[in-house]
Amino acid sequence: MRELVCISHDDTWAARLPTWDVQLVSGLAEAARLLRATPCLTGLIDLPASEGEAGLRALDRFLRLHWRTHWIALAPPSVACMPDWADIVLDHLFDFHTTPADPLRLAHALGHAHGVALLRSQSLAGTAPPMGLAGNSAAITRLRAQIRKVARAEAPVLIWGESGSGKELAAQAIHAASMRARGPFVPINCGAIPPALIQSELFGHARGAFTGAARDKAGLIESAAGGSIFLDEIADLPKELQSNLLRFLQEKTIYRVGATRSITVDVRVIAASHVDLQQAVALGQFREDLYYRLNVLPLTVPALRERRDDLAILAEQFFRAYAAEKSPRLKGFSSAALRALRAHAWPGNVRELINRVRRALVLAEGRLIAPQDLGLAPAHAAAHDGAALGVSRIEAERAAILASLQRWDGNVTRAARELAISRMTLYRQMAKHGIAT
Ligand SMILES: Nc1ncnc2c1ncn2[C@@H]1O[C@H](COP(=O)(O)OP(=O)(O)O)[C@@H](O)[C@H]1O
Ligand SMILES: [Mg+2]
Repeated sequence: MRELVCISHDDTWAARLPTWDVQLVSGLAEAARLLRATPCLTGLIDLPASEGEAGLRALDRFLRLHWRTHWIALAPPSVACMPDWADIVLDHLFDFHTTPADPLRLAHALGHAHGVALLRSQSLAGTAPPMGLAGNSAAITRLRAQIRKVARAEAPVLIWGESGSGKELAAQAIHAASMRARGPFVPINCGAIPPALIQSELFGHARGAFTGAARDKAGLIESAAGGSIFLDEIADLPKELQSNLLRFLQEKTIYRVGATRSITVDVRVIAASHVDLQQAVALGQFREDLYYRLNVLPLTVPALRERRDDLAILAEQFFRAYAAEKSPRLKGFSSAALRALRAHAWPGNVRELINRVRRALVLAEGRLIAPQDLGLAPAHAAAHDGAALGVSRIEAERAAILASLQRWDGNVTRAARELAISRMTLYRQMAKHGIAT
């Protein structure tokens, strides 16, 4: 039977809706507890005539958090005429009825809400694991299988893949599936640390090794003892350090800078590069012997354009992950947007997808994300940079709110009137922009 969460003080709903499995709760806190335990696609909110402004604000907060449920509300005329009610309807509700409601119309609306919610949940949900390398494409499935295999070994792993394709995530997955999972996973970006500092960062230093070395310090390799170290952008490692790393891979020992005694460290090395290391070897930029030491277990993370079947799942996962940044009325992606995602070439891979989804969460005006919200409509892409537009819009919004609040001495009602938005919208905007009440 179809489940329905029903927020009401009236205990006759179960009898009035015999084709539904009605989960009756009397308030928002109880509803939140219920939905946390068992998510429900469809919900009915039966508002009492005594509902006040504070109640509507609490309802707004509740609905913002529980946007996955499709809600229908019953509002007595006293509530339906309140200024904040329109915002609730526009932002959160699938449908609403002014009481007394027509039972037949209500039954239709509930059925419709349930049908739409079901379609939306079936098209995307249940396919994406909450964490790790998401996706169902053949390419990512193969990669996950390789990761499981590689994880069991102890030899170094060399991951190749374009920027933003998920190399670090793959390295984490290898560590997590290995015997070392309980040990530390220490990532280090060889390209991000100034060359002069890399050696002491990686290998540590002895007291007095150089000016400022007041005491002995362990390096990152030591700090990964019992676990794995992830050397990202390994091609950026200066040549003299390549020899040190090679010695460590061969002998499992390191010398802290300025120390005379070697230290044995048990660490597995996972390295990654977006440049072709073999080519770097040919150009004399990368030590050949180190390349062969590292390349025992090679792994390639496929570019996003080689696994287009994952796009909808990934987009939905990031939509959920960053849902706090979105307008409450936004429910998901339009089919035009999903088509645009598949058509795009994704030079920035998954990182680019995350950025585009986050931009859309801010820019989208309607209930569904449109291609241009993702910066993917051809006309828009050529005309201007949508990301910059999004940022300047957010900043302008924040500045306007701050200025108005200042003018009205923090009086929210007056500022809202000046900004031509409801007080509730203003409260919500203030929360979004981190402006204290
Ligand atoms: N298959 C995936 N599923 C979910 N998130 C992913 C996936 N691949 C990459 N990401 C995310 O994309 C971003 C870039 O991934 P990252 O591993 O840092 O890429 P790289 O190291 O190759 O530049 C990270 O936020 C990562 O969590
Ligand atoms: Mg990276």
